[in-house]
Amino acid sequence: MKQIYLFANWKMYLDFDESNILANALAGEAEKFPTNVKMTVFPSALSLYSAGQVLRDAGIGVGAQNVYWVDKGGYTGEVSAQMFQAAGCEYALVGHSERRHQFGESNHEVRQKLEAILAAGLTPVLCVGETAKEREEGKTEEVLEIQLRAALQNLAWPKEDERPLFIAYEPVWAIGTGNACDDTEACAVAHNFIDKLAVELLPAAAVIILYGGSVRPENIAGYLKCENVSGVLVGGASAKLETWLDIAKNAVLPLPAPPLIKGREK
Ligand code: PGA
Repeated sequence: MKQIYLFANWKMYLDFDESNILANALAGEAEKFPTNVKMTVFPSALSLYSAGQVLRDAGIGVGAQNVYWVDKGGYTGEVSAQMFQAAGCEYALVGHSERRHQFGESNHEVRQKLEAILAAGLTPVLCVGETAKEREEGKTEEVLEIQLRAALQNLAWPKEDERPLFIAYEPVWAIGTGNACDDTEACAVAHNFIDKLAVELLPAAAVIILYGGSVRPENIAGYLKCENVSGVLVGGASAKLETWLDIAKNAVLPLPAPPLIKGREK
């Protein structure tokens, strides 16, 4: 059966108490999640430790929304990849469009963060995507190529490393807008472009592609039907128990396992 990854990016939607309440509620439902669904939550840095313990005990993965690339030092307000790892994180988002566009994170910084995530032993979830303007101008592939090359070209990936690299295709115009990318279009980008380029750039890594951008219970099945889309990265709808459980329920499809995009199958 297809392994499905459901990644919940809680962004800055929930305060400390709200995060703990949702984590406990999810933990209470965890036994009902099908075995082929791997759920991971990315709480705020503030809530990560307490909510993370509850989630981990229930078999739900925990990740950081953002990391800094230096391990320790005078960097007011930052938290390093290494510190997140020590606090029980398994995953880290990097290059999320809100970081790129609202905080001016450059491709170079994304690369530094990605390297720090790998060095800290975390599994990276690299986010890439084009803006509405870039899409209208027919530049989707160009933009994705620049982002992917900056992040992955000549990236040292130890041969024996079993960690996958997650790449979330998240069109900027679809994030938080309710205007999800049509699944046929998302599949085409993931299938025809992202997987091929990722395999070329990083043949040593097993690449797993996710879709993100206004995922809802009604549209998740469409994305998971794509051969090379193995899950979703969800923001708004993941911060509400009912919608998130409905997403999880609708994610379970009797699909055959896709060929893992591993470069090795070229
Ligand atoms: P959204 O966010 O589901 O609220 O569109 C997705 C994301 O930012 O990862």
